[in-house]
Amino acid sequence: MSHIQETEEAFGAQAFKKFPLSIVRGKGSVVWDADGKEYVDFMTGIGVALVGHSNDAVLKAINAQAARLITCHGTFYNDARAGFMERLVKIAPKSLTKALLANSGTESVEAAIKLARRHTARKKIISMKGAFHGKTYGSLSATWNKKYRDPFGPLLDGFEFADYGDPASLTQLVDNDTAAVLAEPVQGESGIIVPPSDYFKQVREICDRKGALLILDEIQSGLGRTGKMWASEHWGVVPDIMTVSKGLGGGLPIGAAIATDEVASSLKGGEHTSTFAGNPLSCAAASATLDFITQNDLPRQAMEKGEKMKTGLSKIASEHKLVKEVRGLGLMLAMQTRVDIHSQLLSAEAKGVIFAYSGRDTFRFLPALVIEESQISRGLEVLSQVIREEEAKRLQ
Ligand SMILES: Cc1ncc(COP(=O)(O)O)c(C=O)c1O
Repeated sequence: MSHIQETEEAFGAQAFKKFPLSIVRGKGSVVWDADGKEYVDFMTGIGVALVGHSNDAVLKAINAQAARLITCHGTFYNDARAGFMERLVKIAPKSLTKALLANSGTESVEAAIKLARRHTARKKIISMKGAFHGKTYGSLSATWNKKYRDPFGPLLDGFEFADYGDPASLTQLVDNDTAAVLAEPVQGESGIIVPPSDYFKQVREICDRKGALLILDEIQSGLGRTGKMWASEHWGVVPDIMTVSKGLGGGLPIGAAIATDEVASSLKGGEHTSTFAGNPLSCAAASATLDFITQNDLPRQAMEKGEKMKTGLSKIASEHKLVKEVRGLGLMLAMQTRVDIHSQLLSAEAKGVIFAYSGRDTFRFLPALVIEESQISRGLEVLSQVIREEEAKRLQ
């Protein structure tokens, strides 16, 4: 174990399950470890380095803002915050006109849940089996995996789960006390699950029939990752509240719940604030990130590169019985296998490629949308090598 690793282990609580790798530098789609070894990064902090690590435009904005003003409480107005909120609302679906700022994904979901309960004066939130919305109490109550929930009960009252992709299951749960239906347009953590193409249209109708709001969590799927600015555009559905985070700050922590005027206006001043929400530094980084995404048409890049990568993954799948399925949209992709992939992830790291995972058996690919084709090819080559090696091991 290196000095860095020993020090984190000695002084840090055991919050994360760790890989034995210390990353100290990054640029674009490449990160370096403490010994100077280079890795192509298909994990990007689970989708955070969307515009690449240490993106030049983001760096410039951070440096300029840091020299001018780092903190400014939301009680006061601020130019960096104003500029960011305007940009965010401009790229959001037309009817979503007001941003409530946060510092992370889970906080954005908390804000959405509070907005929904405040606006409707109803209690129930229906989320989906397989859903992941974060690990603070509100969003944890809407997160499906028992391993995250069970040790921490009691969670919030009024949360129920529908079968993802099945409108009939949702119809049974949504009633006159339902404040909102909360769903990921493409489920991320549970292994990149793409719903049937007519599903969200039906979800919208079920919500409208019962007067419930629709909250779409675009924290992992948004900002171009799936080949459209918002994954919900694939389904032609507009929510009442949308949550965004992960890549939004170019790597700095920031998130938002964006709502219709009507929903947002139910909140009174002071009812939902936080010290760091809308801090100028994160806002400046986020403005530069959004400009970079639109100026470089990253949704189109994600679509084109994603198609190539998916074709490559499907080829690997066709050559190896170990692979069960390839799925996803744009550069939000997964390859499910029939085995535990932990040793394959370590083997890929040894060969200089970092992949994310979902559960025990699924590789998850969330590269920067600026990834180069040669880097995608390198990733595919290493993936096919580690799968071949795993198959050979199993034949022995
Ligand atoms: C869809 C979705 N919602 C919410 C979250 C929680 O975000 P954070 O980890 O920033 O709290 C995540 C994180 O992976 C996510 O993928």
